[in-house]
Amino acid sequence: MTRAPRKRVVVLISGRGSNMAALIAATMDPAYPAAIVGVISNRADANGLKMAESHSIPTRVIPAKDHASREAHDEAIHDALKEMKAEIVCLAGYMRLLTPSFVKRWQGRMINIHPALLPSFKGLDTHARALDAGVRIHGCTVHFVTQNMDDGPIIAQAAIAVANDDTEDTLGARVLKAEHRLYPLALRLVAEGKVRMSGARTVFSGPAEEPAMSAMIVPGERNG
Ligand code: GRF
Repeated sequence: MTRAPRKRVVVLISGRGSNMAALIAATMDPAYPAAIVGVISNRADANGLKMAESHSIPTRVIPAKDHASREAHDEAIHDALKEMKAEIVCLAGYMRLLTPSFVKRWQGRMINIHPALLPSFKGLDTHARALDAGVRIHGCTVHFVTQNMDDGPIIAQAAIAVANDDTEDTLGARVLKAEHRLYPLALRLVAEGKVRMSGARTVFSGPAEEPAMSAMIVPGERNG
């Protein structure tokens, strides 16, 4: 049976790029249904750019300061995505809010990873806030991007137990490890067309057992 062509994915980053690296690693498997065809950063000093280049992935730096407005900046990103023939956009630590018209154009085809179990702890400093709140279970979420920040339909989540002696750093490190497993899994579901956005919900298709793949419990491990 001939395999469907791999979906063309462009990753948007602003910094370290470790989730981008996890996605690149997943695409090394020829059976993976997506290929990373480009990386766009709004910052020239984003470390992830070097890593993408070391894999011969085309990169573009599109700084906000080169554009008169948010709209113009997002328009430039949209043009770059079109040039790269992106079919799916993955936000991976992209630290700028996107304009409603940009989000609308990519709705259902743009996903984000957030370091908390949404809808809890939207926004920044999620690990410190989770510790402050005393939650016993924390984790990460991949969701479709919609107009409101960290608010779109959920595709996949990974849960991890909070240890009594966790600090922001130790907890954050375990969540990040889970992110690196979760994001490739979620992108696979989207690329294979096994999940799609329908209004405010994610619709899962395929055999009944498959949706379970999108819920990952990371067994308790000690820190480090
Ligand atoms: C990750 O924790 C991600 O969930 C959040 O920003 C961080 C980016 O890290 N959106 P990296 O650049 O992927 O290493």
